[in-house]
Amino acid sequence: LKASERMRPYNFAPGPAAIPEDVLREAAADMLDWHGCGVGVMEMSHRGKEFMQIAAQAQSDLRELLAVPANFRILFMQGGGLGENAIVPMNLSRGGLVDFVQTGGWSKKSIAEARRYADVAVAATNAGRPDSAIPDPSTWAIRPDASYVHICSNETVDGIEFHALPDLKALGSDAPLVVDCSSHILSRAIDWSRVGLAFAGAQKNIGPAGLTLVFVRDDLLGHALPITPSVFDYKVVADNDSMFNTPPTWAIYIAGLTFKWIKAQGGVAAMDALAAEKSALVYAALDASGGFYVNRVAPGSRSRMNLPFWLRDESLDDAFLAGAKERGLLALKGHKSVGGMRASLYNAMPLAGAQALAAYLHDFATRHG
Ligand SMILES: Cc1ncc(COP(=O)(O)O)c(C=O)c1O
Repeated sequence: LKASERMRPYNFAPGPAAIPEDVLREAAADMLDWHGCGVGVMEMSHRGKEFMQIAAQAQSDLRELLAVPANFRILFMQGGGLGENAIVPMNLSRGGLVDFVQTGGWSKKSIAEARRYADVAVAATNAGRPDSAIPDPSTWAIRPDASYVHICSNETVDGIEFHALPDLKALGSDAPLVVDCSSHILSRAIDWSRVGLAFAGAQKNIGPAGLTLVFVRDDLLGHALPITPSVFDYKVVADNDSMFNTPPTWAIYIAGLTFKWIKAQGGVAAMDALAAEKSALVYAALDASGGFYVNRVAPGSRSRMNLPFWLRDESLDDAFLAGAKERGLLALKGHKSVGGMRASLYNAMPLAGAQALAAYLHDFATRHG
């Protein structure tokens, strides 16, 4: 469809990002009066029965979608991914050693923040590799007494993704694995047997900013450093069912609608298949351009959610973005730290959006190549 024939343009923003149109329509219809109760969700008490029901349903749908085992608590928190970079070491490091795998800009930020609370070491890094390939877990130097090992399973800026989580036990480590899955949560299943804690900001693949999801194995609760603010102590949050303080009610409500929407699409398996199809289309268009577009990430580490690419001739960048906008393809400009372009293909991006982008990539390269 041409942009003029569609209701809305395709939004390739990295986050805050596109939300399914059905979700936005339902939220708009409920804005003034949620289910006949006379007020909208933003206006109701978080302790009232209406909101308690919304939050409980959101949590149980999320648990079902990701098959989260009973020994994991799901917490609805605030503070975002960067907040978790401090909250995780406060809760899990016990003031000891923490190991990281550095695969891009977000894990690098996590490392810098954790250094304020723990003795941090980098067990492996892809820095300096032209193809940015994720180092094979068998080469990771995990310290025997590490409190946990942190990875970023999808590097939003660099376009690097773990397609399987590492099995630390098989590497001889008992340390819990901590996973920042902010930018690909709900696009693939999670092997919880390999995870101690996972966290994700909601504003990429789920809904509006302001909500941070934390999945934590219950044996990891109750070890926070004394300096930990109570609202960021996982045990306090868990004991109070994420209602110790006022939670981000609107964001939880929108996230809940998105969970329902994902279930209706066929669940995480359907999102997984869609992510594979959309990203394959766009990478194929980039790779078929004969070097007009460049993405150097090793195929096995390429992200299905965030696809950075550069025009060989950067002087065409502005024309590329202007032409894209004309076709209703929005927010393709790359992150300021790396330049170029980036297409984020989160769950809310329909297949037709990836097809439209692939067609535009081909047309633009043919016209300017
Ligand atoms: C992988 C990852 N981690 C952390 C963050 C930071 O999240 P926030 O801005 O919610 O603190 C982002 C994105 O902004 C991200 O993509």
